[in-house]
Amino acid sequence: MDFKRYLVTAALPYANGPVHIGHLAGCYLPADIYVRYLRAQKRDVKFVCGSDEHGVPITIRAMKEGITPQDVVDKYNTIIKDSFAGMGISFDIYSRTSNKIHSETSQAFFTKLYNDGVFEEKESEQYYDESKGIFLADRYIVGTCPVCGNDNAYGDQCEKCGSTLSPEQLINPRSALSSAVPVKRKTKHWYFPLDKYEGWLKEWIVDGKKDQWKPNVYGQCKSWIDSGLQPRAMTRDSNWGVPVPLPDAQGKVLYVWFDAPIGYISATKELTNQWADYWCKEDTKLVHFIGKDNIVFHCIIFPAMLKAHGSFVLPESVPANEFLNIEGEKVSTSRNWAVWVDEYIKDFPDQQDVLRYVLCANAPETKDNDFTWKDFQDRTNNELVSIFGNFVNRAFVLMHKLCNGRMPKLHAEVMDDADRALIHEIESAKFKVQACLENYKFRDGLYEVIDLARKGNKYMQDKQPWIVAKSLEANPENQQLIDNCLHLCLQLAANLAILVNPFLPYTATKMCYMMKVVDRMLEWENAGKTDLLKTNYPLRAPELLFRKIEDSEVAAQVEKLRANLVKSTATKMENTTAPIVSETKAEAIPEVQVKKAEITYDDFAKIDLRVGTILKAEKVEKADKLLKLELDMGTEIRTVVSGIAMHFKPEDIVGKQVTVVANLAPRKMRGIESNGMILMAQNADGRLIFVSPMETADNGSEVK
Ligand code: MF3
Ligand code: ZN
Repeated sequence: MDFKRYLVTAALPYANGPVHIGHLAGCYLPADIYVRYLRAQKRDVKFVCGSDEHGVPITIRAMKEGITPQDVVDKYNTIIKDSFAGMGISFDIYSRTSNKIHSETSQAFFTKLYNDGVFEEKESEQYYDESKGIFLADRYIVGTCPVCGNDNAYGDQCEKCGSTLSPEQLINPRSALSSAVPVKRKTKHWYFPLDKYEGWLKEWIVDGKKDQWKPNVYGQCKSWIDSGLQPRAMTRDSNWGVPVPLPDAQGKVLYVWFDAPIGYISATKELTNQWADYWCKEDTKLVHFIGKDNIVFHCIIFPAMLKAHGSFVLPESVPANEFLNIEGEKVSTSRNWAVWVDEYIKDFPDQQDVLRYVLCANAPETKDNDFTWKDFQDRTNNELVSIFGNFVNRAFVLMHKLCNGRMPKLHAEVMDDADRALIHEIESAKFKVQACLENYKFRDGLYEVIDLARKGNKYMQDKQPWIVAKSLEANPENQQLIDNCLHLCLQLAANLAILVNPFLPYTATKMCYMMKVVDRMLEWENAGKTDLLKTNYPLRAPELLFRKIEDSEVAAQVEKLRANLVKSTATKMENTTAPIVSETKAEAIPEVQVKKAEITYDDFAKIDLRVGTILKAEKVEKADKLLKLELDMGTEIRTVVSGIAMHFKPEDIVGKQVTVVANLAPRKMRGIESNGMILMAQNADGRLIFVSPMETADNGSEVK
């Protein structure tokens, strides 16, 4: 198919927290590189994105911060938008799903499917939190994953093993809002019959996309389809979201995964009157850039919705990346283990391209990858500065020194094999980079760019024009050799600017300034040419393209990560209080500050608090936070699993007397049944202190 236009989307980030570099590496940076490349090719392309402002992540964040969902999305939409702009992510539009045009568009979409009789209306029993008066769907409900045993799987997905779940599948479900055990209540919803699209999806993906989609994407889709598709509710009981446009649907909104992808359509509408060309004409190439946790939504559910609607094109490709870990550990927004883009921009002003470089060179394209600040320093200093920056700088400096500051001429009569080989390298680099970019292989593409700079360095090193210059007095005609060398080096530098432009746009612009050429030179059709810079034209003095990253900067960043890590949350969670649900930067939430509601004496008297002595403590295998404790409770020995392993060495706590919640319902953690919970005080810095009797008490004595 010859595509006439391109519509490139990047996943709409939830406006419930800032974006971190994992988001950039996984989705926004590759999308931006691809779009900048298409623009340089002068292809007709629109690049759309925006904030995803509905759904449970937003409402939970609002509850935690004690503000309204609207406040949450207003705050984070601005931060996210500025972060993207600050990193040169060049959306044609960055919209919001709380815009009017979006609710109209998604309601119209829903109504069309409704009128066509697509939905199945079903009344069913769903989990309900009586203490909060709220139905529990998606991330409002947590429990043990039936697939991998993760204790904190959500009602829609297990983040540990990636399984897609429904609340019914969770073992020991509990409310994410109150930790209460939910009850069942009747409610009515509208279901999209994914099962009816199974045959079509098989044909379209399993048969049709096998060799086109990345193996990770294809594999996830295939296993989803193979395990059988179920009807999926497209509405929710909530007061935050796009209202369901039906008369008998008070208090119901569209499911966030129904409305959010339609956000791509509404953003395009907002951008251009020509939006229908991009969405409805067969010769549009629609490409969704996403992270791996979004695969089923973009490859199965949304395409089935589009198919059911009938007027829209389907995605041609969905290049999803894996995750980027930080310093060897999975990113955890709740523990604040992440490098936040807004902070990077503050800490490293005008260093966008350095981060773009490192994130692309190390992109998690085929497997999870690791970002470390040391690697950030090494790649910057050893690749960007030493290879690319150094080559460009030397070419300029030598031209000023040995060629009077003007672009030297190429003397064809004295060209040798090395010159011709270099010209060949310049020509073929274009095709190498291009083949990579067309196939979403951004790391390989960037490697080819650096490789061309490497070849330039080698050529210059072999030619040694500064040595040749010493022979000029005896052999003035040798100036021609110097000219040829620097002519080709500078033409190569101009090519580097074109090839690096999609990846490092700030650098390309700086290079254009130094070469005194207009940005138009950066058009892709100019790549491979060796007559880009005009002979005898005076060029500017070089600016350093990149600076070295100092050891002290690396140390400061590593220290910052460790200092900001929220140790307490994990401990709390595994002590069975409220689970972590927010997908956001934890630093902003100094723990739940809200005072708890008043209770009666009878409420308090329900808790059986007892004194016990730790007899034994050992680490739980494969769980770095858990200790298995054996407690002498006077009349019995109890096993309690406690999330304090990060705080205490087992041998240091044996013999300590502690306070135990003795009548807490038993709970399995990592296969060990925990019977109770020990009380801890926690300092603002996260340190834990045992709540123990001042003097030794009898084991088993009551605390009241
Ligand atoms: N907000 C979702 C996330 O961050 C992505 C939504 S993508 C869209 O995981 F297609 F729904 F817009
Ligand atoms: Zn799981």
